[in-house]
Amino acid sequence: MRKPYIAGNWKMNMTPSEGAAFAKNLAKAVEGTNTKVMVAPPFVTIPAVVEALKGSDIIVAAQNMSDNLKGAFTGEVSALMLKDLGVTNVILGHSERRALYGESDVFINRKVLLALSEGMDVDLCIGETLEEREAGKLEEVLSRQVSEGLKGVSAEQMQHITLAYEPVWAIGTGKTATPEDADAAHAFIRSLVEKLYNKGVAEELIIQYGGSVKASNVKALMSKEHIDGALVGGASLSVEQFLPIVNFDK
Ligand code: G3H
Repeated sequence: MRKPYIAGNWKMNMTPSEGAAFAKNLAKAVEGTNTKVMVAPPFVTIPAVVEALKGSDIIVAAQNMSDNLKGAFTGEVSALMLKDLGVTNVILGHSERRALYGESDVFINRKVLLALSEGMDVDLCIGETLEEREAGKLEEVLSRQVSEGLKGVSAEQMQHITLAYEPVWAIGTGKTATPEDADAAHAFIRSLVEKLYNKGVAEELIIQYGGSVKASNVKALMSKEHIDGALVGGASLSVEQFLPIVNFDK
């Protein structure tokens, strides 16, 4: 039985003081939920959010991290620094990192392996662009992103991996994949993981959907067999919008 997992990726929103106030309200609002909840603030907002969430089960993640642990890498933030702040999880391979900052599957894989070796849990994002989908390349793209992103990850380490399927054309556009299309992509991803590992790993893997998830569509998405959670952007920035997503089952 896979536990529902709803994550909020704040992207480049929320100053430390805004994040702390928001996190306190959210912690109160989600008390007693059956869902695993995660928030991913910008780096500089993380300490204030960790402090505000003391005593809460909400997980704090980073939105990215360096592929190195320390050294002359100007502007980078390492797993060691994140762990020192109390951060246990990291989002890697988000489509905005891939598209805007040129992150490749090989580069993302380096970060995945580093995060796992540092004992962190990873939310690995994958998904096709509109052009790729229209050119009939959905399965080819997902196969590449999954097999290259997870290269060198052992079956045992897979319990520390969540995959987030985010069709790029659905992110921040208001266009959501239909629950049926999303479920078909998730089923394909699960079958890939079964081929790469085994049935047990595939069945336990949490696969989140991301792309314009909101209160009005979350129930239909979460009712699908292979959709185990959501990675939410815009609608994770207000308690009014995020709470009904976390409480999709109430
Ligand atoms: O990480 C979150 C995704 O990019 C989805 O963003 O919910 O604003 O479409 P969105």
